[in-house]
Amino acid sequence: MMEIKPLTKEEIQVIRAETAGTAGRIHLNNAGASLPPDVVVRTMVDFLREEALLGGYEIEAKYRAQLDHTHELIAQLIHANRDEIALVENASAAWDLAFNGLSFQTGDEVIVSEMEYVSNVLGLLNAQKLYGIVIKVIPNDAAGVFPVHELEAAISDKTRLIAITHIPSTAGNVLPAAVIGEIARKHNILYLLDACQSVGHVPVDVQAIGCDLMAVTGRKYLRGPRGSGFLYVRKQIQDKLKLLFFDGRTVTNVTQRDFVVRTDARRFEWYEKNPAVVLGLQKAVEYLLNIGIERVWQRIQHLADLFRQRLQEIDGIVVHDQGDVLCGIVTFSVQGIAATAIRSKLAAKNINVHIGLANSTLFYMNRKGLNGIVRASVHYYNTEEEIEVVCRELRTLLL
Ligand SMILES: Cc1ncc(COP(=O)(O)O)c(C=O)c1O
Repeated sequence: MMEIKPLTKEEIQVIRAETAGTAGRIHLNNAGASLPPDVVVRTMVDFLREEALLGGYEIEAKYRAQLDHTHELIAQLIHANRDEIALVENASAAWDLAFNGLSFQTGDEVIVSEMEYVSNVLGLLNAQKLYGIVIKVIPNDAAGVFPVHELEAAISDKTRLIAITHIPSTAGNVLPAAVIGEIARKHNILYLLDACQSVGHVPVDVQAIGCDLMAVTGRKYLRGPRGSGFLYVRKQIQDKLKLLFFDGRTVTNVTQRDFVVRTDARRFEWYEKNPAVVLGLQKAVEYLLNIGIERVWQRIQHLADLFRQRLQEIDGIVVHDQGDVLCGIVTFSVQGIAATAIRSKLAAKNINVHIGLANSTLFYMNRKGLNGIVRASVHYYNTEEEIEVVCRELRTLLL
């Protein structure tokens, strides 16, 4: 096993000094949108200024090589090839491109976890209405662990797709993406991974996981700008995925009678996008690569463990996270105080947390009877002191 060098106090101080937002608030809404490093913001602002002064197309041409480097860096982060990455606006767009690019017939089965995000659930229900697909939901077991054997038992000759959320929106567990990948490969079934919450949070290696398609957003644990994201499409299945829209860059050639589609995943992206956002995302990925995802993951686990431990010491707080591997998303309820009230009372103390509503992770929340829980998600730039402050505030609210 490779030894991971923990992030030191000094490194955390530098990282915080390079993140303007950490100065005035305790930001525990990283699963919503994390605070970007200053370099991400600076890069975008500088680019927008140049664009305004010199012209959008002219500046795009000047930065062409640098803009194109974004695919390369993302590929490096997730162990893919640059021609397997399409830049899109968010994870829902990426998931939709992947899912709706598949052809379904009546009776085709899609196996999902109970942790699917609402956008994915809507996509599934829509396909159920349109094509008559069958959705098979595999709930976690009593200990909050994804039962891999039940997934395997649910596979039939009608199973067309396994679609799994790696880290849920409103629960603290990590699903065993690579073990699921082994099963998908063994049975030769397509595998779509929603890694919206996991890239930038836990190590994500598409080779080790064995997914065919993966949807990611930029603004969450990656610390990129809002309105950024990407879709990973394994080379071998690119030609099998339907194109849902076209523009001039989807093709390498077009005549009055026919066209030739480009041979990389960029066929799935729109040409027109915000280049400032692309560069911002690139800087965020570069920033992460410089720190190292293993170190990030180690620090997040340390902070989240500490946070859960402290919360459990408070009478009147129930922590909901369960599972064999827990991540930076910490969910809990406070006896007698609605989650919305907790959010606003903490906000008044410059502490950002978020609310998990029943529909955001529909199957899981309904099964557990949860609605309106507090979601406080830590990132590596948070500190032990911040956690102590938040727990102190929560204790005061319960007095
Ligand atoms: C697990 C998960 N998947 C997908 C999404 C959708 O991401 P986006 O808002 O970037 O489309 C979210 C957003 O919170 C999420 O938590």
